[in-house]
Amino acid sequence: MKSKNSLFGFLISAALLNAGLTSAFAADETIRSLAEERGRFIGTILNSEWFNDNIEPEFEQIHKTQFNVVVAENEMKFDATEPKENEFNYTKGDKMIAYAQANNIRVRGHALAWHSQVPGWVNDYKGQKEKLLKVLKNHIDSVVGHWKGKVAEWDVVNEAVNDEYNAGWRSQGSVWYEGIGAEFLDSAFVWTHAIDPDAELCYNDYSLEWGMRENSKASFVVEQVKRWKKNGIPITCVGTQTHIEIAHETTPQNVRDFAKALAELDITLNITELDIGFPKGSAGSLGAADYAKQGHLYRQFMDVFLEEPNMGEFVIWGLTDAHSWLDEQQGKTEGLLYDKQYKPKPAFDSIMVSLKSHPASEVKTPYTFKKDTIPSDTTVQDTTVKDTTVRDTTAKDTSNAIMKFTGLQKLSMHLAGRTLFITGTSAKPSTVELFDMQGRPVFSTKCEKGSIDLKHTAEGLYVVRIRTGSTSYMQRIAIK
Ligand code: XIL
Repeated sequence: MKSKNSLFGFLISAALLNAGLTSAFAADETIRSLAEERGRFIGTILNSEWFNDNIEPEFEQIHKTQFNVVVAENEMKFDATEPKENEFNYTKGDKMIAYAQANNIRVRGHALAWHSQVPGWVNDYKGQKEKLLKVLKNHIDSVVGHWKGKVAEWDVVNEAVNDEYNAGWRSQGSVWYEGIGAEFLDSAFVWTHAIDPDAELCYNDYSLEWGMRENSKASFVVEQVKRWKKNGIPITCVGTQTHIEIAHETTPQNVRDFAKALAELDITLNITELDIGFPKGSAGSLGAADYAKQGHLYRQFMDVFLEEPNMGEFVIWGLTDAHSWLDEQQGKTEGLLYDKQYKPKPAFDSIMVSLKSHPASEVKTPYTFKKDTIPSDTTVQDTTVKDTTVRDTTAKDTSNAIMKFTGLQKLSMHLAGRTLFITGTSAKPSTVELFDMQGRPVFSTKCEKGSIDLKHTAEGLYVVRIRTGSTSYMQRIAIK
């Protein structure tokens, strides 16, 4: 099925690109709408220029129309949030949270423990283990506490593996490792979880897309994740930054293999900082074939993302080539979906084509409700079938678990237009609750007549839970 999809997609993609038909997509069809139907999150950063109100109006317009997950380029990093010891600055981060809430966009928090963009006052405590432990804990307590419930996922630790092809921690140039040792990572996860038990917690790094060879970063990370899981360290996801170049043709397959290895450990893999740059020297001489090749690579990453059930977020490190760290710092250029005039590039079309050739019914999602949004008295108690797996409320919910619940209950629902019909409820009234895909309650109502009216509910993907007596039933619905 996958190869059929890929072939089909490739043909459409090639046809569209040859015809230059960016407008082949319906006006109301966006990356965001297609991502939401598939229960996935696709996004880009808000550049620092956005935070400083120094960016073209097109930027925000495109951003909120096309994307449903957001990250701050620099504004939630340690040096931005705690520039002086125990003096926190949340102004810019709050601005992003307000924007995300107003536009129903998921927020990634980036990043808590990282060797880079650490303020000078932290480096002054170099080598002082007890002090650094206190500093890191205080930072996590304050920052995670401030945005508790608003940040869906944190990069708890960023870039802690070295670059030396010997699969070890970054032991030099990291104030955290040099002062504390590798236990800074474990501690950071535990402290973050203690403050916000609902947040997804990621380990994030670059060069993970180079594959699972001996001594590679990816293999090392898989080994560490095994250890963390065994020791009860509350990690739920890995982020592969994936800053690559146009020549890196094998990397999508490497990401697929990495996703599969992490799936074995019940860990989500997110693409967190994708860009596919050309060498800076090629600026000005790039032609249609170059942009088509870039589009093809974006397409391959999106195919992997949609086909691997434990992938949740696909984040690109920038929206327009007019504002990109590639030109400023990386000796690369033109790595994003929109050109400098905010015109979508072939890479944009490729992503749309990939989404459209993976029907929503075939794309799985690692996201369901957060368990804490379900009051404890409504834990599903199935009395007809002996299946202990559904009663494990400590395990991470998965879409499989939801499917299991639905299979075991007699209740059912179906959506016809904007009316949700509920059948199989002998005890009346039943309670119907609607949650968004981040597990936040949207509304709750009593159902007296076997149906409820959803005409005032915004379009999107939701999870519905019906409770009647001691029985409960959940299902994902798409309101159009
Ligand atoms: C980059 C920003 O884009 C730049 O503006 C900043 O000067 C340096 O950091 N990996 C990461 C990101 O985790 O935080 C980095 O962002 C890019 C590499």
